[in-house]
Amino acid sequence: MLDVEQVRKDFPMLSVSMHDHPLIYLDNGATTLKPQSVIQAICEYLSSYSANAHRGDYDLSHRVDETFENVRQKVANFIHAPKKENIVFTYGASDSLNLVAYGYGLTHLQEDDEIILSFQEHASNTLPWFDVSRQKGCRIQYVTLDQDGQITLEHIKETINEHTKIIAISHISNVLGYLNPIKEICQYAHQKGIIVVVDGAQSVPHMPVDVEELDCDFLAFSAHKMCGPTGVGILYGKLNLLEETSPTRLGGGSNSRYYKDGQVTLKKVPAKFEAGTPNIEGVIGLGSAIDYLTQLSMKEIHEYELSLRRYAVDQLLQLDNVIVYNPDAQGPIAFNIKGVFSQDAASLFNTYGIAIRAGHHCAKLLDNYLETNTTCRASLYFYNTREEIDQFIEICKKGDDFLDAFFG
Ligand SMILES: Cc1ncc(COP(=O)(O)O)c(C=O)c1O
Repeated sequence: MLDVEQVRKDFPMLSVSMHDHPLIYLDNGATTLKPQSVIQAICEYLSSYSANAHRGDYDLSHRVDETFENVRQKVANFIHAPKKENIVFTYGASDSLNLVAYGYGLTHLQEDDEIILSFQEHASNTLPWFDVSRQKGCRIQYVTLDQDGQITLEHIKETINEHTKIIAISHISNVLGYLNPIKEICQYAHQKGIIVVVDGAQSVPHMPVDVEELDCDFLAFSAHKMCGPTGVGILYGKLNLLEETSPTRLGGGSNSRYYKDGQVTLKKVPAKFEAGTPNIEGVIGLGSAIDYLTQLSMKEIHEYELSLRRYAVDQLLQLDNVIVYNPDAQGPIAFNIKGVFSQDAASLFNTYGIAIRAGHHCAKLLDNYLETNTTCRASLYFYNTREEIDQFIEICKKGDDFLDAFFG
């Protein structure tokens, strides 16, 4: 069992106060807090073995190479990828999704092809596909969400036709929080030769994810949403697909030779995608974050978060002044205080030391589904407690007094 009180001691940020209240951080969908071990691993690189990666012929540099490549192996183990070569380091989930759209989509899609997206998607899994489809003369099709806002295999089947080449969807939506049936979608899509790109930004940090079991073609996620530092992303890809993907950035480290006539021989996957000095301290921090999460157990983290979410939602559902849009999802809780603009609500929570997110959450197509433009979002992580939820609920209860309380 997860010892949350013990775990909380690992996070220096949990001793910070906001407006004279201990911080209650419920914006983990945006980014997570970092344990001391991650901070320490980054500091150690910066203070005792700083050198560039993949370039030097001296001991410090070898140590950096070894540590950096070990992290690639750790990431592969973490998501059960067959080889470390399946793992490309990028600068964030957005960067990973851009790499698939421009590196694979642009070279494989033809005029009249179709890409399936959903209204749940984050801008990072929408805008690159808009641009690529515009450049190639393709069409975007949207899978219909069911009445709860979920994607079902049946709806995917209805959207697929002979033009469909790519399905790009989230594993867990960052607003509605539903776990999408990726394994079933991949099984069906592969029978039709369709590639499935999965945005795992909100799933990999919270639950065990096994890419071999899902059989997805690409999976994108970010280190900073799983206790690691900002500026590091991961793209998992099946090897044959990564080999067919063109790099979107060129430069030092990604080529083995080039000549004055413009001929370039690129390195093998994944080096061909990683031109320039990578975010070395970020990757090292990610390695430490994976060690931390693995030692806690992703299964236990997932179970704990589900029970904490249930605890929060059950209380929210009892409040007449609160609308919950996704009571039975797994991820973030999307809600509104009736009659209160979401950003006003977030500002009031802030005055009680509670950090939540308000707005569109970078998923602006969801307006097509939700009967509201913006929502509040409380996104939990394994270091949140029932006591924190109780305090959050107390503020929600202020209900109609909300604005009075806000403006005094
Ligand atoms: C579902 C989803 N996809 C992609 C992203 C983009 O991640 P990043 O900002 O780390 O590139 C986010 C970030 O909020 C997200 O929630």
